[in-house]
Amino acid sequence: MAFPTQRPRRLRKNENWRRLVRETALSTDDLIVPLFVVPGEGVNNPVVSMPGVFQQSVDEVVREASEIHGLGIPAIILFGVPHDEDKDPEGSEAYNPEGLVPRSIRAIKDAVPDLLVWADVCMCEYTSHGHCGVLTDEGEVENDPTLDLLARAALVYAQSGADAVAPSDMMDGRVWAIRETLDDQGLVDTPIVSYAAKYASAFYGPFRDAAQSAPAFGDRKAYQMDPANVDEALKEVELDIDEGADILMVKPALAYLDVIRRVKTTFGLPTAAYQVSGEYAMIKAAGQNGWVDEKRVAMESLLGIKRAGADMILTYFGKDVARWLAE
Ligand code: PBG
Repeated sequence: MAFPTQRPRRLRKNENWRRLVRETALSTDDLIVPLFVVPGEGVNNPVVSMPGVFQQSVDEVVREASEIHGLGIPAIILFGVPHDEDKDPEGSEAYNPEGLVPRSIRAIKDAVPDLLVWADVCMCEYTSHGHCGVLTDEGEVENDPTLDLLARAALVYAQSGADAVAPSDMMDGRVWAIRETLDDQGLVDTPIVSYAAKYASAFYGPFRDAAQSAPAFGDRKAYQMDPANVDEALKEVELDIDEGADILMVKPALAYLDVIRRVKTTFGLPTAAYQVSGEYAMIKAAGQNGWVDEKRVAMESLLGIKRAGADMILTYFGKDVARWLAE
């Protein structure tokens, strides 16, 4: 059955053959676009390390959301970026019903009701120390007291009309805490998208500029996962499923394709991957230098993430991909 009988090139001969045997397709249906909300009006601050990404005031985020909807993309995810003077050790701005994210959710659902609006749930953009939870006197992130704050934030977002809440903090038990709180308040139909296998990654660098959320001291290794581990990712995912997660996310994506594959194969549940800020920035920078073809490298990376098993991808290339696919 080998050469010369078998010649795989027969089915690669031209684009029609390639179309017929293509195993994976990237579609606009797969995309979720992250957006950053800042105080003010008419604000559109470019994020220097992420060309094409902006910090936007609520009015601009609404405009952006309707553009995204117009391109046929099903969902966005919101991150709030308050002023430094509105941050405190408990991150109370995260669960202020008049905060940036709740106001954006209401305004977007008003203007573009058809677009799914996910709300990221984490403390790091809201705490004065930049960690993802409250601290002990020794400066360690305390798990259980943080759960109450995360649940409060998730509840405020769900009550403001969020179509899903997405905890990205990596505290133990947060999916359970959020599910219980939402259910208590009758929000039984709001899905939880869990950043289930989120690694302590160097690829988040540009995001921490965009969200002004870098930890003031230390790192996140005591709560985010060790990049060396994959069995542990399956444990994290299984726990989150038991606690009530509806969608499981792996983050980052490109350096963790094996994790995406194992999660999808093991559980067979809706699986998301986050192509994070550093992945985006590297492709953009090399593209701007003329060292790689930005469009082709971006599309190939995203296709690889799908082929690995992702059902959906959070990506800063969202609008570009929708346009490229329409070409
Ligand atoms: C907040 C959060 C981070 C990202 C998403 N949610 C940063 C972090 O954990 O430091 C990163 C996203 C990206 O890099 O694009 N916890």
